[in-house]
Parts: sequence; structure tokens; C-alpha cells
Amino acid sequence: MISTSITRRTVKRAAPWIERCISSSVTSLNPPDLDSDTLSQVSNTSNLRLSHSLEPIPYTSGIELTPENSFHDKLGHKKVTVVGCGQVGMAIAYSMLNQTTAGTIALVDMNKDKLEGEAKDLEQGSAFHQHVRILASDEYSVSQGSHLVIVTAGAAQKPGESRLNLLDRNVGIMKNIIPQVLAFSPNAAICIVANPVDIMTAVAAKIAGPSIAPGRIFGSGTCLDSSRLRSLIAKKLDLDTAAVTGYVIGEHGDSSVPVWSSVRVGGVPLLKFGQEPTALHDAIHKEVVMSAYDVIQKKGYTNWAVGLTSSFIANAVVDNTRHIMPVSTCVRGLYGIEEDIFTSMPCTVGSTGVQRVINLPLTDSEQSKLKQSTLTLWEMQKGIWNMI
Ligand SMILES: NC(=O)c1ccc[n+]([C@@H]2O[C@H](COP(=O)([O-])OP(=O)(O)OC[C@H]3O[C@@H](n4cnc5c(N)ncnc54)[C@H](O)[C@@H]3O)[C@@H](O)[C@H]2O)c1
Repeated sequence: MISTSITRRTVKRAAPWIERCISSSVTSLNPPDLDSDTLSQVSNTSNLRLSHSLEPIPYTSGIELTPENSFHDKLGHKKVTVVGCGQVGMAIAYSMLNQTTAGTIALVDMNKDKLEGEAKDLEQGSAFHQHVRILASDEYSVSQGSHLVIVTAGAAQKPGESRLNLLDRNVGIMKNIIPQVLAFSPNAAICIVANPVDIMTAVAAKIAGPSIAPGRIFGSGTCLDSSRLRSLIAKKLDLDTAAVTGYVIGEHGDSSVPVWSSVRVGGVPLLKFGQEPTALHDAIHKEVVMSAYDVIQKKGYTNWAVGLTSSFIANAVVDNTRHIMPVSTCVRGLYGIEEDIFTSMPCTVGSTGVQRVINLPLTDSEQSKLKQSTLTLWEMQKGIWNMI
């Protein structure tokens, strides 16, 4: 095991009242594009304890405080493990390192030599980043006591291999990883990044079984797609991306659904009430969908944007921010969806993973596209679902 021990940034060790302030601010969590009616439709997990990990987060009326997970309430030392330290895993680790997301970052990969090289490389830049302890091993004991585990490990498609066959191999990888992660970090939130992320998240939740509370296992989902959409709109308008809010929901992939009715620029709706998206909007969404293909064709893989996306998610879990972001969660029961499908809806993310699912108002065409997206996912998922 490689170990670098340095002290963390002082602000990250702030007094417990800062954490309490963050937690208590949930009652005033009121994003600019949600009115009080919409907020009353927000669901929460407050009365859910040991129900099945495949249960969706149910809708309830009104907002209640989410129960604290005492494991996460201790301030000070927070630990994030990344399982799978290829291009994506290392971009996540690098991004978290630069943002001082955690006091300890543990790296797990079965390729021991490469892992040791990666850890040493990171370690040798330690004079120039905030103080973070880096651990690396091909054994899961290194992940012990993590607050968050991010899983990127997955097999790549072989030439001529069917998607179903690839899925089958990735199910095998999840069967190996999830029990070990849970054995060493029984209280951790688990964020799946490996593709196809929605199906891999459902698979991970099914493997984890009934003792894992709904929401603890979730996928990075369309958080990245939403960032792509926002950045493309901002670029066209010559604005800062932060000025543009809005969501892509559904599958992380080709059938994703841009919720144009949710897009606001500086708080102003992009579309007028009842206005349907135009060919220009469709072209922007097409660019979102094609982005990964384009980047992969040009550089062989995507990593920086997903690295930043995942560290944004990690900050929400580690600091219990309850930020609202589109991540993959069980959507059975929403919009007439009957299957055990995980896909992205805007969710509140905190120390226990997904804590609430926002009942985002959708136009009829957005709803039918979401339904279509979930059917697309189920077509892929049903081939392996009963084998888990
Ligand atoms: N969700 C997203 O937004 C998003 C974006 C980009 C990529 N991805 C996905 O992330 C995954 C990783 O991509 P990458 O480019 O880093 O691939 P990569 O091949 O560079 O890295 C995969 C790593 O996983 C490791 N690994 C494989 N099986 C393992 C196991 N059983 N235990 C531990 N480690 C194991 C490999 O040794 C390798 O280092 C892919 O599935 C890719 O499609 C997701």
C-alpha cells in the first residue's frame, strides 16, 4: 500500500456548527426555478430505514428534514474511495485532490503496477495542492471506512462484442466489487459512474440487496449531460455556464431528454410558457448526445468533464450539501414506469446519497420522451436482470 500523510486544509476542519448550519439550511433550499407548489411535491426518505435498495424514493407532500446519518456528521476526516483507476477514475481523483474534497482519497484497481504509478505520480505533486492523504491498493481493505465510494471499473467493449455480452461482463465486475465495498464501508454512499451507468446502478443496487436503504446507491447519470447542455447554451449566448440552469434527464446516453421547459438563463425561462423547442434546441441536444462520441473519436476516451462532474457529486456527499442535481435513481412508479429502472431525475444529494427526488414539471412531449428513454433502458436491462 502506498501512503502519503499530510494535514488537510484548515477550512475543511471547521467547527461542528458549520456542518449544523449546512444541515439546517435544507428548509430554505429553494432553487430559483421551483415554486412552492413544485416544492410541495418534493419527496424524501425520512421515514425509510432498512427497505430494499431497489425501492424508489416515494413522493410525499411537503418538505421534511432528512435524518442525519451520524456516521457522516462527524466533521474532520472524510474519505472517498475510487474503484477503477483508469482514465475516468484518475480524472475524478485529480479533480477531488484539487478541490480538497476529502482528507483521504483511496484508489482501488486490479492493475497493481499502474495503480502504484498513478498514486506515486499524484503523491509527488503534493507540495502544490492542499493536504490530502492518498492510499492505493488492489485490496479493498484500503477503502475501509469510506464516506463515499465511486465505482468506475468496467470492461470496455471488444471489437464485434454485443452490448448484451458487455453488460454481462460488467455485471460480473459489479458482483465482485459491490460486496467488497460494502464489507469495508457499510455506511458509505456509493456512486456508480461505469457505463451503461443507469443499468450498472440498478445492477449494483440489486446486488447490494435489501439491507441497503434506497438512495444510498445512485449513478452519476445525466449530471454530465446537463453540464454539457448548460455549457453549450452558455457558449452560444456568450455567458458564464453558471448563469444557465436546467436539466437533461432520463438515460445517460442517446435517449436522454433535455427538459427545455426547465432551462433558465439568469432566472429567465429560455422558452415562453407553452412554447415547443425549435430545430436549434434539437441541434443543441444532438450536440450534447454526440459529445462523448466526438471526444472519444478525437482523444480515445472522455475523462475531464466526467472527473469534474463526479467531484461535484462527491462534494455534495462529503459535505452533505443537499445540492439538487440530476443523478440516476430508481424511478419505478414515476410517470407510469413499472419496471425496476434507474435513471436520472433532479435529486437532492447529501451524505446518505439521494435523499429526495424532485417532481419536475414536464410538458407532455418531455414526459413521453422520458417514458421512451426508460423503455430503451429496459430493453437492454431485461436481458440480464433475472440473472443477478
Ligand atoms: N457516467 C459517465 O458520465 C461516464 C463518462 C465517461 C466514461 N464513463 C465510463 O467509465 C468507465 C471507465 O472508463 P475509463 O475510460 O476510465 O476506462 P479504463 O479502461 O481507462 O479504466 C477502467 C479501469 O477499471 C479497472 N478495472 C476493471 N475491472 C476491475 C475490477 N474488477 N476491479 C478493480 N478495477 C477494475 C481497470 O484495471 C482499469 O484501470 C467506462 O465504463 C466508461 O464508459 C462514464
